[in-house]
Amino acid sequence: MVSTLCEVAGQHCSQIRTFPILTAPFAFTPNLENSSRSPSWIGSSPTSYQRRAAKADVEDDRRRFPTGVTTLCAMNEGQPIGTTASAFVAVSLEPALVSVCIKRGSWTSRQLRTLERLGISFLGHGHAATARQVAQATGDRFLELHYEEAPSGAVFLANATAWLECSIENEIPAGDHDMVLFRLQAAATDGVMPLIFHSSDFHTIAPLAVKP
Ligand SMILES: Cc1cc2nc3c(=O)[nH]c(=O)nc-3n(C[C@H](O)[C@H](O)[C@H](O)COP(=O)(O)O)c2cc1C
Repeated sequence: MVSTLCEVAGQHCSQIRTFPILTAPFAFTPNLENSSRSPSWIGSSPTSYQRRAAKADVEDDRRRFPTGVTTLCAMNEGQPIGTTASAFVAVSLEPALVSVCIKRGSWTSRQLRTLERLGISFLGHGHAATARQVAQATGDRFLELHYEEAPSGAVFLANATAWLECSIENEIPAGDHDMVLFRLQAAATDGVMPLIFHSSDFHTIAPLAVKP
């Protein structure tokens, strides 16, 4: 048997799954025949297709894709403003472009767009509460947070894994979100382990270990 341990914010979580070894250490064949949510590439049917196309299912599927977590922050009239976003993609090396999908009409995104420079912080494993705080609808999103303000007005959170100073290059409407394309102006990294968002919960990463 092979055991996989998942680590949540630096602590081992209670969920331990054991899979039988098949032909290779990590060859794992899920029992899809009895699954009510068979992927369309196995046992596809119009009924299952319709079920998976429903909005709630799309949201549920999307949550199963693990992502890093970023904050987009800047100074605005002497006060830090910001939001949390997991829909980050590194787009191009030359020129250096990244994108973040931001819900259209969100108050913070409208504010951030008016600013010359923004700071994108890749959150570290100790930032689970911070990610929620910077996303909260009411209250001070920066209360007791450690952050730095760059001369450009970009704001970076302390203890992140990387910091990108960006300007807005373009915005592409995409359904109820906008794909905001950022041009990278400067970047720095640290050795902190990242925060991972998966199935509406926070995790960090751990190397795979095959135990005999
Ligand atoms: C972990 C996490 C990831 C999020 N990712 C995104 C995202 O990628 N895009 C987005 O528009 N909102 C995302 N949100 C929600 C926004 O942070 C939140 O709705 C926003 O800050 C509220 O905006 P407003 O009050 O400025 O209008 C995320 C929230 C959390 C907690």
